[in-house]
Amino acid sequence: MKVMVVGGGGREHALVKALAKNPDVTTLYALPGNGGIARDATCVDIAATDIAGMVAFAVDNEVDFAVVAPDDPLVLGAVDALEARGIACFGPNKRAAILEGSKVFSKDLMRRYGIPTAAYESFTELDAALAYLDTAPLPTVVKADGLALGKGVIIAQTRDEARVGVRAMMEDRVFGDSGSRVVIEEFLRGPEVSVLAFTDGDAMIPMVSSMDHKRALDGDNGPNTGGMGTVAPNPYYTPQLAARAMEEIFIPTMEAMNAEDRTFKGCLYFGLILTEDGPKVIEYNCRFGDPEAQVVLPLLSSDLLTTMQATARGELANVDVEFHDGAACCVVMASAGYPGAYESGFPIAVPEDLEAEVYVAGAKLVDGELTTGGGRVLGVTATGATLTEAVAKAYEQTARVTFDNAYFRRDIGAKALSAEGRS
Ligand code: AMP
Ligand code: GLY
Repeated sequence: MKVMVVGGGGREHALVKALAKNPDVTTLYALPGNGGIARDATCVDIAATDIAGMVAFAVDNEVDFAVVAPDDPLVLGAVDALEARGIACFGPNKRAAILEGSKVFSKDLMRRYGIPTAAYESFTELDAALAYLDTAPLPTVVKADGLALGKGVIIAQTRDEARVGVRAMMEDRVFGDSGSRVVIEEFLRGPEVSVLAFTDGDAMIPMVSSMDHKRALDGDNGPNTGGMGTVAPNPYYTPQLAARAMEEIFIPTMEAMNAEDRTFKGCLYFGLILTEDGPKVIEYNCRFGDPEAQVVLPLLSSDLLTTMQATARGELANVDVEFHDGAACCVVMASAGYPGAYESGFPIAVPEDLEAEVYVAGAKLVDGELTTGGGRVLGVTATGATLTEAVAKAYEQTARVTFDNAYFRRDIGAKALSAEGRS
């Protein structure tokens, strides 16, 4: 069976490695993949957003199944285009991917269907947004409506900061059309949890929970990044909260999308804050999180491809999705300077015995040698019987992966461990 993964980051590397475990998979393609993925799949130089290119490639190469991993091709309709040519796909179609593609859509959906989320107003006019900020409670959260490479959220402590953010989005269009509308919402307090779930519009199967570490520096300081590390499971997410989230958020979201004739098939990512009033949604993503996938997939004990195919066919209720009991930790190694300017082009040394646990994100093969080529270079994942063990092992392994200008946080998992009462 020929399987194609669209995307080229650490998440896609984790997907490729998990898909390769199915013995029916004879060929794995990654579009475009990266220098590290090239060890595990055939990388094809087609951009993840080149929909015509990926459809032509899939048809010409008789691809049996496609996994579209990143948000932008999903929002652009990659799944619709592939399915139109008879290629079975894992991922939501364009009508469903709007759940991530438009924050105004997702907030309005939650309001209409009574799904707990931060109180908000949305604006299409700059003056109205600025006027609202005169009285909005502080801190306040300003979000660009559309995709903005994870940078479209501003947590403003002051009215001026919020005004600057709104002007940058609506007037200067720093995120292009994504900023033509903005959401201004209530700041929620509480621990954050990421929950990825398989769903086909009929069944909803949450995966093991996780915790991202979005800020660049230790202690959750510094600028937001794509994610500097993850742990799973998330100790704040108790079985009681999971049951509540299932009943108040996950099932209602699935049913709301069905009712809107936007049935969501794929991986639905719930970004939650566990407030004093219960779990509330801060964001939906229409795909696996990065670097959440790098801790969730290594804990998956059942077959990923089988689940993905069942999801695509609308038969998810018939499969068992199972996870190991232990924990996982992923430490992201970045180029010093990220998320600002950084230098690239340094050779990366990964000891052979660690290759299975290293998920490469921003790296190229230069004369056959793996070389840094991005902000987030790679993630080192370790699993263990306990979170303590997984975190310790992840850091031991991280110390053995070397490249010039490497930077990583030293405290991935520290908050989770203290929540467990063990640090
Ligand atoms: P996003 O780009 O939507 O993932 O948001 C980035 C980060 O901003 C989230 O991971 C949260 O830490 C924070 N955030 C977003 N919305 C809120 C909110 N309403 N209240 C508190 N923090 C938020
Ligand atoms: N780690 C957050 C995301 O993938 O959006």
